[in-house]
Amino acid sequence: MILDGKKIATEMYDRLWSEILTLTEKPTLWAILVWDSDSPSLRYISQKKRETKKIGMWFSLLHLPKDISEDELIAEVKRLNSDNSISGYIVQLPLPAHINPLRIIRNMNPKKDVDGFHPENQGKIMIWDTTGFSPCTPAWVMKIFEYYNISLSGKIIVVLGQSNIVGKPMAQMCINQWATVVSCNHLTPDISIYTKQADIIISATGHVWLITPEIVRPDAIIIDVWFSVVDGEIFWDSKYDELIAQWNSVTPVPGWVGPMTVAMLLSNTLQAHKA
Ligand code: GUN
Repeated sequence: MILDGKKIATEMYDRLWSEILTLTEKPTLWAILVWDSDSPSLRYISQKKRETKKIGMWFSLLHLPKDISEDELIAEVKRLNSDNSISGYIVQLPLPAHINPLRIIRNMNPKKDVDGFHPENQGKIMIWDTTGFSPCTPAWVMKIFEYYNISLSGKIIVVLGQSNIVGKPMAQMCINQWATVVSCNHLTPDISIYTKQADIIISATGHVWLITPEIVRPDAIIIDVWFSVVDGEIFWDSKYDELIAQWNSVTPVPGWVGPMTVAMLLSNTLQAHKA
């Protein structure tokens, strides 16, 4: 079975659009981008801008020079914190090497941190306090489970990759739903020991074709959230064609990660606006 993230994203955009239509004051999302004008991040930002427009939300881009100092960037962050016309904002990552992203994130107002990167929001996931914002990628993976009525309770889940914005919050969200969770990283000697036992595998590594039919159960659910680009060609973490032929329930349908991530971001922005 194909787990159709594109369909879920489209339905979410429709719901957001109808709700925003009823508001007299429209939500406003800001994005801080510190980099060159030809940075790949600019493409991600353009996608966010396009989608905000479609659902009737305001969007502003604060494009800052790449030689900005850490303190100057923090001053900009604080300015957005105190501007009441801004519902929520993101600081696009990666930042230039001379800037410590953790220091920037710590200075964001957690109530405007619609990416869910601030320690307060990340900590709330740990203690299952649902009043915070969750990082968009793990949040939409949970939406997929909800949409397809996939219960995590008692399941064995393997999470591949342990980044702060995907792997770690993802593992914790699954634990909150009473799953037994194994977190693997690039130093795990043999992931197949774990993946062969898994009911569900969630992969966010950027490692080409890491997940093949040989290392998964034929009935396992595979959620593939990341890809890499080699010589201009996109390769997902999972060998989608072979897994789907083996009856696995699988993402991706190429072109769905972006729409779902942005849909979650805009949903968080609407929530921040209402709060
Ligand atoms: N860089 C790559 N993905 C993301 C994301 O979801 N949010 C931000 N702020 N930066 C990113």
